[in-house]
Amino acid sequence: MDNKIRLEFTGIGENVALARLVVASLAGQLNFTLSDIEELKVAVSEAVSNSIIHGYNAVPSGIVILEAWSDIDSLVIKIVDMGKGIADIQKAMEPAYSTEPDRMGLGFVFMQSFMDDLQVDSEPGKGTTVTLVKKISTDAGRLNSSQN
Ligand SMILES: Nc1ncnc2c1ncn2[C@@H]1O[C@H](COP(=O)(O)OP(=O)(O)OP(=O)(O)O)[C@@H](O)[C@H]1O
Ligand SMILES: [Mg+2]
Repeated sequence: MDNKIRLEFTGIGENVALARLVVASLAGQLNFTLSDIEELKVAVSEAVSNSIIHGYNAVPSGIVILEAWSDIDSLVIKIVDMGKGIADIQKAMEPAYSTEPDRMGLGFVFMQSFMDDLQVDSEPGKGTTVTLVKKISTDAGRLNSSQN
């Protein structure tokens, strides 16, 4: 069954946990393993934290939108902010690159390694959209389809 959600929230640290819970709940209804769900939670936390910390410079008035939809073989999650945007996306995605000296620059590395697909769309002054795609285990899919 196809499912779709849209959640809009204030960009404050407490809502990182909210976004993580919502995604874990959605993923729990699908054929994901526990480790898949842990990976989804990390990737979503990283993207939402980036919107809050970088997109809105931690000013707690920015709005973050989480959209998610699932179909038979994947879960797609979009994290959208209307913050400052990213001038050089390729550079931002390099391992250990950060515009803040006290950060590790590993958020995109985690998103990339835990997801099957990662897309970053951004425009300086307009905002950033991160799209995460996680495929539902093909083994489980094959098992189901052979029973039908
Ligand atoms: N939503 C966003 N809005 C504006 N800039 C962003 C956004 N997301 C990422 N960036 C930029 O991309 C850089 C790399 O992001 P990444 O998450 O990989 O590392 P980080 O956030 O700096 O460090 P870490 O995630 O390890 O704490 C950031 O330093 C920031 O400059
Ligand atoms: Mg980060």
